[in-house]
Amino acid sequence: MLIRPRRNRKSDAIRSLVRETHLVPEQLVYPLFLVDGNDIKDEIQSLPGNYRMSLDYLLKEIGECITLGLKSFILFPAIPNDKKDKVGTYGYDPENFYLKAATSIKEHFPEACLISDAALDPYNVDGHDGIVRNGKIVNDETLEVLGKMAVAQARAGFDLIGPSDMMDGRVAHIRKAMDEAGYTDTGIMSYTAKYASAFYGPFRDALDSAPVDGEDIPKDKKTYQMDPANRQEALREASLDAFEGADFMMVKPALNYLDIISLLHQNFDIPIAAYHVSGECAMLIAACKNGWLEYEKAMPETLLSIRRAGAQVILTYFAKDYAKLYQSGKL
Ligand code: PBG
Repeated sequence: MLIRPRRNRKSDAIRSLVRETHLVPEQLVYPLFLVDGNDIKDEIQSLPGNYRMSLDYLLKEIGECITLGLKSFILFPAIPNDKKDKVGTYGYDPENFYLKAATSIKEHFPEACLISDAALDPYNVDGHDGIVRNGKIVNDETLEVLGKMAVAQARAGFDLIGPSDMMDGRVAHIRKAMDEAGYTDTGIMSYTAKYASAFYGPFRDALDSAPVDGEDIPKDKKTYQMDPANRQEALREASLDAFEGADFMMVKPALNYLDIISLLHQNFDIPIAAYHVSGECAMLIAACKNGWLEYEKAMPETLLSIRRAGAQVILTYFAKDYAKLYQSGKL
C-alpha cells in the first residue's frame, strides 16, 4: 500500500495541520429575546437555557458574551398584545421599547454588531410577517411598513437590518428607504432562502408570534416562505437579493438545508449566513437531557458541519455555550 490516509490522522498535531474547517466564536451570532419592563428573566420552555429578558438582564448577558469572545447579536422583541394591530404600526413607533433597547445596547457596547428583525409578525395581531387582507398576505403594502421599520431600526443604531419576512422586493425597498434617510452604512442581512419549516416552533412560543386562528387568516406561511422541496428556487431568490443589494444572504433553517448553504456559497460572492433555528437546537438539547447524546461533543460537531457546508456566519442558540467551550480550550 503506497497511500495510507490514516497517516494524516496519526496524532493530534498532525490532525490539526490538515484540519480544513475552523469555527471561532466571532463567526457566531447569538439570538436574544427582549421583553418590555425590568427585572424579567423568563425561560423559554421549549428552548431550555434561553430566556425572554428585559433590557437590564440583556445588557448583563451581552457583556458576559463579549468577554467570551462573541461579537454579534440578533435581537427579537416579544410585543404585548395591546401594542399589536393589523399593520405593524408599533414596529416603527419611536417609543417602541425594542428600538430604545437597541440604542442603549449600542451605547453600552459600541463594538458589538447588533442585528435587527424586520418583519411584521411580532407586531401583527394576525401573527403573519405581512399585512393580511381578505385571506391573503399583501406584498407591496407590507414593503411600505418594512421600509419604515428598517429606517427606524437604522436610526436606533442597529448595524445590520434583518428582513425575515420573505416578501418580494423587500431588500431593494429597504435599501432605497435607508439610503434616502441617510443610512447608507447600515447593512442588510437578508433571509434569502427562508423555508416554510416545522422547526420554528420554540421561537414562536418565545414571542407568541404564530399565525392566529381566525377566519380569513392563512394557517401557515407557505405563500411567502419557501417550499422545503426546492433548491433551484433558492438560486433565484439569491440572484434577486444580490442584485437588490443584500450584504449577507441567509439560509434558514441550517441543518436540514446544508445543501442550500453549499449551493449559495459556491455560486455567490456575498457572505452566507445560516440560521440554526430554535427547533434544530431544541432537538439536540432534548436528546442530551435524556442522556442519549453528549452535549459537549454533539453541539460543536453540529456547528462545525454548518460551517463546513459553506456558512461564513452561524446564528445559533448555542453561541454562548460554544464560546465557553472554546475559551476553556476543550475544542
Ligand atoms: C419570523 C421569524 C421566525 C424566526 C425568525 N424570524 C419564525 C417564523 O418565520 O415564523 C425563527 C427562528 C427560529 O426558529 O429560531 N419573522
